[in-house]
Amino acid sequence: SAASNFDFTSNLFPLSSTTGDGYAPIGASASAGRPSGGLGGASLEKHKTLTYLNGLSLIVGLIIGSGIFSSPSQVNSNAGSPGAALIIWVVAGILAWTGAASYAELGGAIPLNGGAQVYLSKIFGELAGFLFTWVALLVLKPGSSAIIAIIMGEYLVRAFIGAEAETINPWINKSVALVGLFAVTFLNSVSTKLGTRTNDMLMFLKFFALLGVTVIGIVVAATGFTSSGTANLDWKKHEWFEGTKLDASAWAVALYAGLWAFDGWDNTNYVVGEFRNPSRDLPRVIHTAMPLVIVSYILANIAYFFVLPLDVINSTNTVAVMFGSKVFGPAGALILALIVSASCFGALNSSTFTSSRLVYVAGKEGYIPAIFGRIGTGTAAAEHAALSTTRRRSWFSKKLAKLFGDEDMGLFYTPIPALILNATLTAAYVLVGEFGTLVTFYGVAGYTFYFLTVLGLIVLRVREPNLERPYKTWITTPIIFCCVSLFLLSRAVFAQPLQTLIVVGFVIAGIPVYYWRIRGRDKVVKRETSSGQRPWWKFWGRRRSNI
Ligand code: ARG
Repeated sequence: SAASNFDFTSNLFPLSSTTGDGYAPIGASASAGRPSGGLGGASLEKHKTLTYLNGLSLIVGLIIGSGIFSSPSQVNSNAGSPGAALIIWVVAGILAWTGAASYAELGGAIPLNGGAQVYLSKIFGELAGFLFTWVALLVLKPGSSAIIAIIMGEYLVRAFIGAEAETINPWINKSVALVGLFAVTFLNSVSTKLGTRTNDMLMFLKFFALLGVTVIGIVVAATGFTSSGTANLDWKKHEWFEGTKLDASAWAVALYAGLWAFDGWDNTNYVVGEFRNPSRDLPRVIHTAMPLVIVSYILANIAYFFVLPLDVINSTNTVAVMFGSKVFGPAGALILALIVSASCFGALNSSTFTSSRLVYVAGKEGYIPAIFGRIGTGTAAAEHAALSTTRRRSWFSKKLAKLFGDEDMGLFYTPIPALILNATLTAAYVLVGEFGTLVTFYGVAGYTFYFLTVLGLIVLRVREPNLERPYKTWITTPIIFCCVSLFLLSRAVFAQPLQTLIVVGFVIAGIPVYYWRIRGRDKVVKRETSSGQRPWWKFWGRRRSNI
């Protein structure tokens, strides 16, 4: 294979063989070997645990969350007709797939934890990586978790008061959302495996649910059976493209809603460094997960059309519950509402998992106070105890750990301060946020960074043509992604100038913070590295000159 002109592991992480203090295996933690400070540090390299299946459940678990059960109304009403809506779903799915394929190439070429943060740092300099972390940590991650939590609350409340009930006091939903948020935070604090196993189980539930919806839809369409005895035959009367809107802004809004349902495709990239065989498995995960999700979304949408009248699909944001209640009456509504809230719970769980790792890395990097980069309850002593290899654990604590599936690490070997910070921010968004605003804001800020990262892939191809890329996507893939996301972003600029301005202002506000944090960090490092160890800031210097 082509000679790599820089080898990330040996060249950029010269400390990797000297730090044996076992910072590593907090599941998907990113920056491990602190003395080297950087992302995807030393000892992580020794703990490659993730398999193909883990990767699959991580990505599918996050993608299938709330969207397919609640965004159809936004897609439909903005597309104008069922046929156009289906096209939007296909386009959104393919766009997500091209994004994910591009990220797979980056993940293979730069096989480290941290996702966009690492790629942006390596390609455009650390400031770019910092600004991504800044926005992701304060807005993207907690904002998206808040949306999922709110929808989970909405569905759970629906499950108990019925699909037909009119308005619900939003504070009831929000309280349920907060309870769910605390539950996943607690789960992920107790043990990493507890979190990931919950995920694995819920992934099957989700596929099962979407498959169920599809089969039911087809049966209803074929036999005309519903609980009320009368099938909805509207779909036969309709022309598929009747009423299609010819308005680019409306399409953009529809596309944002569809993209929300596919979002999360970048999540395996946060933990690339922990794959046993990243260059083989990362592309494999992406090229199975994306088509699976796309097909099941299309089928579910067709099933909705078969069962529900268009005006219901266009106006409800609990389309799955309407579906259940139409086919099986109140019992069907109850079951579907429970399934959807479980699906959201799973997505919230995965999202919490990856977000806490992002916060943890930011703490390790010195972007935010160091306490957030600690494992355990947050004091330096507690972290020392948690990390000690010869740590004494009582019989009881060992049994308990075994019960929760974490015999090796023991309980609470998790980035608890990071989890708490993430939960606090998310709770704030749940309290003040409103679904529509959050989704658009999320779309604009999120796609800005997706765009930059995929653009970085093209830049890297030009600048480092000989860099070893175990997986190489067609050059058309990133180009398509860049063009479509640029269209989306430009639409947002015109349609929602105020929101765009807020996003831009927010990103710019990160620049002074960067200089403040980095200056402080480098001073501390100077003090700490007079001990004869290789000063780790050389590592930063090298990284800059390497790219
Ligand atoms: N696709 C998910 C859903 O339908 C949303 C994922 C949000 N993204 C994230 N990184 N948390 O609910």
